[in-house]
Amino acid sequence: MTNLVDTPEWRALQAHAEALGAASMRDLFDRDADRFRRYSRSAAGLFLDFSKNLFSDEVFENLLGLARARGLEARRDAMFAGEAINKTEGRAVLHVALRAGPNADYSAAGAPVSALVNDELARMKRFADAVHGGAFKGHTGKPLTNVVNIGIGGSDLGPLMVVEALRPCWLDGRQSFFVSNVDGQHLVDALDAVDPETTLFIVASKTFATQETLANARSAKAWFLASGAGEKDIAKHFVALSTNEAAVTAFGIDPDNMFRFWDWVGGRYSLWSAIGLSIALQVGFGNFEKLLAGARAMDEHFRAAPLGENMPALLALIGVWNRNVQNIAAHAVLPYDQHLHRLPAYLQQADMESNGKGVGEGGEPVVHDTGPVLFGEPGTNGQHAFYQLLHQGTDIVSADFIAAAVSASELGDHHQMLLANFLAQTEALMRGKTEAEARAELAADGLSQPEIDRLALHKVFAGGRPTNSILMERLTPETLGALIALYEHKIFCQGVIWGVNSFDQWGVELGKALATTILPEISALGEKKPGGSAHDSSTNGLIGWINAVRSAGS
Ligand code: F6P
Repeated sequence: MTNLVDTPEWRALQAHAEALGAASMRDLFDRDADRFRRYSRSAAGLFLDFSKNLFSDEVFENLLGLARARGLEARRDAMFAGEAINKTEGRAVLHVALRAGPNADYSAAGAPVSALVNDELARMKRFADAVHGGAFKGHTGKPLTNVVNIGIGGSDLGPLMVVEALRPCWLDGRQSFFVSNVDGQHLVDALDAVDPETTLFIVASKTFATQETLANARSAKAWFLASGAGEKDIAKHFVALSTNEAAVTAFGIDPDNMFRFWDWVGGRYSLWSAIGLSIALQVGFGNFEKLLAGARAMDEHFRAAPLGENMPALLALIGVWNRNVQNIAAHAVLPYDQHLHRLPAYLQQADMESNGKGVGEGGEPVVHDTGPVLFGEPGTNGQHAFYQLLHQGTDIVSADFIAAAVSASELGDHHQMLLANFLAQTEALMRGKTEAEARAELAADGLSQPEIDRLALHKVFAGGRPTNSILMERLTPETLGALIALYEHKIFCQGVIWGVNSFDQWGVELGKALATTILPEISALGEKKPGGSAHDSSTNGLIGWINAVRSAGS
């Protein structure tokens, strides 16, 4: 395939950017009263307004042309057809098959998978119902009311984010804890809060080879046994979610207590699989099914809608325009919904681990920018932290604002205030404030001319800062499922346009390997160990500093 930067569509986009020149977003809105209607779309219970981005009609048409030229529709169809589009790992990418419903008929690289998916979902349902109904109890006969999910990355962030987002659906008397960090304090804090007799540990790891997860799982098992339970009681308190039966068995978990998924499920796309067991336990299997149904609605839209109507494709194309032509290197995800407080962290993995790549699918270096730095916090908290930079910083940051029109907890006028802040921020980022407006305001406030001269520029907002607004009626399992699938497909589309494989993650390997090398060089508390000698002077010196403190036993 032609290099992205050599395509006529790419060159045309650069030319359009020059033609847009100094046009401000204000001008685009002033010139076209219909801009909002023309650049907003609805799908699967979500509403997307992307009109507050600095692009013209020509740019829009050209972005659609770019998507066609990059074969986006054919690549989408190849993904749904179960072709091995994850080429570096030789795997299909079929998270859509996990939520396709009872009548689906998907195949991964030619092998049927839908029956496997539905069987595993049925096992999960039986298990969740048995835990909830008390048929599956702890070893002393008490109901299992607490879940500790032990996993990291995709085996943690997705279920954690969803469990937090669906707080209004939590089943009475149930509590979930998510332990991911190898920092022992994370596990200790969770164990301090639970009773071994009423706790179910879920060891979630696609590979069952992840250092952090296995260390936490071993320590959890030791804590459980130290509570007076025997080896035989492990079967009542430990289940595994994995693709690796041999490693699960070697760890001491009975394969009957293992819920399976498959290599065509990427870790960061796995919350729809057995990895979602902690979700089903906290909110009920019915709500888990609604989450899958919401994602399925977005999948069906993504698969069928023409590019100009296709919400994930449009979100991706606007992102490409901002990243590659407007040279915006950072993107904020700003949910105006406290229950979505882990969505930015979840999307950091989904987006940055997928598209933070510098090598193209064919092994060639990429010569254009790829995924942006992604960050975010719920509104309105972020407004009192980093929005200063969004409004007046020297770098432009694009942003997605996300909100529900109706809150699950309508408390007085709180939700109106929340929504007013959402709208005010997107309007301010778009319109900005000119120097003339700033001066007029200061004069209206009665300031003297020298004071106006001193403060005027501080009060100027450049505006023209791009935002997307994503709205839904309410945050429900269905709309949450659709929202997550929207982002998954956006990430896929951007990977296709950038020509990178969004489904591998070789960049996480080097640090993992070096940590294995360094581990035996770190002293146990009170143990005398020298500093490092096999590394650069900084790493050697840091090992020496740490060992000096630890060997003193403090
Ligand atoms: O850090 C890389 C990674 O492989 C992620 O892609 C993955 O979600 C995470 O580690 C956890 O992997 P596993 O589920 O195999 O423990």
